[in-house]
Amino acid sequence: MSRCRCKAGWLLFASAAFLCTSPAALARPRLVLKLGHGLPTTHAVHKAMLFMADRVKARSEGQMVVQVFPNEQLGNEKECIEALQLGYLAMTKVSSAPMESFVNKMKVFGVPYLFRDSEHFWKVLDGPIGRELLLEGESKRLRGLCYYDAGARSFYTKNRAIHSPADLSGLKIRVQNSIMAVKMMQAMGGSATPIPFGELYTALDQGVVDGAENNAPSFVQARHYEVCGYYTLDEHTCLPDILMIGTRVWKKLSAEQRQILQEAADESVRYQRTLWLEQEQKDLQVAREAGVEIIRPDKQPFRESVRPIWDEFESSSDQKLAEIGDLIDRIQEVP
Ligand code: GCU
Repeated sequence: MSRCRCKAGWLLFASAAFLCTSPAALARPRLVLKLGHGLPTTHAVHKAMLFMADRVKARSEGQMVVQVFPNEQLGNEKECIEALQLGYLAMTKVSSAPMESFVNKMKVFGVPYLFRDSEHFWKVLDGPIGRELLLEGESKRLRGLCYYDAGARSFYTKNRAIHSPADLSGLKIRVQNSIMAVKMMQAMGGSATPIPFGELYTALDQGVVDGAENNAPSFVQARHYEVCGYYTLDEHTCLPDILMIGTRVWKKLSAEQRQILQEAADESVRYQRTLWLEQEQKDLQVAREAGVEIIRPDKQPFRESVRPIWDEFESSSDQKLAEIGDLIDRIQEVP
């Protein structure tokens, strides 16, 4: 069994969600919340979650503990989301992309070139639309606590430099487990290959795919830059990372515990945004120094190639598609 992927495995760590660990704890039960995610420990988002865990411990005077398991140790993003729904796992941090299959409205983040710039992005996420989307999954037993910065995603490839969508033709590009990512690749002319993040290094190395797309910290910290010689900053999507808790667990927390957790999450957001800006610049430099060619393409042909995706949402009579069309309009109206 790799990485606790069978049901018995889930039960093993799930049983520890509410745990009394010592004689003292028998008198004052200690709450342990397990948090699984897929990023490496050097990543700014992982560091932010450790910061959040520290704040939770300090504020609860050691009565609440968040244990963070990186590197897909508890499963890939889709598996962690499912484990939250079942109550086997308390918390996870995922990209908005795999959330699409659980919460339709999350697809809006996958609309390429939706945000004008990062100021617009944060205005939307920190405002009513961002809040609405965090809580949208409650009926599916999924509650978002906060968003972490995951920058903009761009293509990286092994052997062919990408200057325009035409260069993607005939290439197999790894995408996340996301229908929007598949639509985007189809529109741009590449061939979409969904693979979990933790399996991507090997897939690139062995030539299962010709390239992938991500932000600079993930490109570098997951060591994909060791096997990909080109990084094209076309910045097609801005998908936030989202810290999630299962509502089965959330409902069992007292009002005070909820407040401690939410406030710690909010504090970690501020910390992560500073870390992120530093890491993005630093990692781009690491890639450059390692010999990766950094390409700053004209974004217009990329924008034009994905126009059919916008049209599909905006003109649709299908309720689920129209819901995204509506959100696109509301996001564009945010000044
Ligand atoms: C980003 C994101 C991860 C996600 C990864 C991916 O790194 O932070 O949550 O797993 O992209 O491409 O799968």
